[in-house]
Amino acid sequence: MDPFFTATLSAAAYRTLVALVYQHSRIRLGADKQPMLANRLRKRLRVLGLTSFDEYCALLESRAGADEIGQLVDLISTNHTKFFREPEHFAFLTSRILPELTPRLIARQSPLRVWSAAAASGEEPFTLAIVLAEYFREHPSLDWLVEASDISQRMLAHAQQGIYRLDHGQWASPDLLKRYFQKGFGPRAGTCRVKPELQHRVRFHRVNLFQAEYPIPRDQHVIFCRNVMIYFDPPSRATLVQKLTKQLAHGGYLIIGHSESLLGVRHDLESVRQGIYRRN
Ligand SMILES: C[S@@+](CC[C@H](N)C(=O)[O-])C[C@H]1O[C@@H](n2cnc3c(N)ncnc32)[C@H](O)[C@@H]1O
Repeated sequence: MDPFFTATLSAAAYRTLVALVYQHSRIRLGADKQPMLANRLRKRLRVLGLTSFDEYCALLESRAGADEIGQLVDLISTNHTKFFREPEHFAFLTSRILPELTPRLIARQSPLRVWSAAAASGEEPFTLAIVLAEYFREHPSLDWLVEASDISQRMLAHAQQGIYRLDHGQWASPDLLKRYFQKGFGPRAGTCRVKPELQHRVRFHRVNLFQAEYPIPRDQHVIFCRNVMIYFDPPSRATLVQKLTKQLAHGGYLIIGHSESLLGVRHDLESVRQGIYRRN
């Protein structure tokens, strides 16, 4: 019998894993996630040549565990995303934020800085890059840059490749697809790759939103931090909003997901509309 597939996750080992995940990422795993975690981790145990979850917990708690905790968080986090997800936010960026901010930035000859703070596999930062590139085709241009970050090394590796399934291209108009993507041929048929002109506008970083200092420049004009706060408890959300507020320029915007809210979170931002906040 294969010992890797019979390893059982005891309540005590599960508590240890829940605590370590929380400590590292502030992701709160409920009791209902125990079977999911056990299933996903059995494969990891096999890769590491371990036969029990207790051995795995011991590894995580040892000096060598610092890297492994990243792997663990990778296994449990939800990375679902797509191009132009929650499209109202991109429409608001084009219709309200960019016309408001760009004349001042042009006058100061200062670049526009936008940060996708939970970028997953890259669809969000590349959508931002497309929206900005489109806007500046029609309007007086200025220099701009998108910072993209995530805690997951696996997601970042995917994002940095910039290769996506075409899925009949329903997520972008034929014009946008042609302007910003190269179609794959041969073994890459059915996929498309972000064109280098656009890719060069997006800089990737591995960032845990709760780390002490971010490797992202201050004075961001827009921060998209969408569909990640939902995994954090209220004190962690409050900590995060404070950190992101410090990272925003005055007059800059924080945008969170449709299913998220800052209700009950103390903050100094002006609520502009559902999910959109401004630092005054
Ligand atoms: C559901 S995806 C959201 C993707 C995108 N923002 C969107 O709305 O489509 C959540 C992402 O948050 C990342 N994440 C979870 N905890 C994090 C943390 N503490 N710091 C940074 N990223 C984190 C996960 O790795 C995952 O890629």
